[in-house]
Amino acid sequence: MGTMKLIAATHNPNKAREIKRILKYRYEILTLEEAGITESIPEPWDTLEENAYQKSSVIYSITNANCFGEDTGLEVTALDGRPGVKTARYAGENATAEMNLAKLLDALKDKDDRDARFRTIISLIVNGEEYRFEGVCEGKISKEKSGENGFGYDPVFIPNGSEKTFAEMGDSEKDKFSHRRKALEKMGSFLEKFEFH
Ligand code: IMP
Repeated sequence: MGTMKLIAATHNPNKAREIKRILKYRYEILTLEEAGITESIPEPWDTLEENAYQKSSVIYSITNANCFGEDTGLEVTALDGRPGVKTARYAGENATAEMNLAKLLDALKDKDDRDARFRTIISLIVNGEEYRFEGVCEGKISKEKSGENGFGYDPVFIPNGSEKTFAEMGDSEKDKFSHRRKALEKMGSFLEKFEFH
């Protein structure tokens, strides 16, 4: 039995790095770059589920290969679940992570309730069928940013069960808590029942 090849439908090098380190023992993961795909994939929808499916279905239509897309949102309780599906564009269409973070800390500056969760949805297409997996990490938004590792909102997100932000953790410590790791593991277990040659 050969190693199954899967295309990860992301252009985000940070996500690709996490995906590879979590799945590398079981699957051969190709990023879009490695698969020679340069198309940018729009995320036009109002839910993580639809955006994840957009990514997998666009890549499947180009390659006809087994692939998955993932979409992640940060859902903050005191902001009624925002930024949610708009997490990447919270401070505007071309916002940097720095700008998004600053906007989030500002929106929460008078709030005692710091509860938040990261939610990842994976849309997997295997043998032409679609399957979805969810990973959630509950936690809190810190008062200030702290730490240099990771990406995006990592400097302000403290997962429940830790005192550190994701950005203060090493890779394996983040993976222990992370939404993306949980969704990827569910997909990995599901795929074990398929045989690929
Ligand atoms: P998208 O899934 O590519 O739409 O990205 C959603 C947004 O969430 C981006 O701004 C990312 O930087 C951010 N994000 C996604 N995953 C993580 C994470 O694990 N830590 C911190 N920020 C993340």
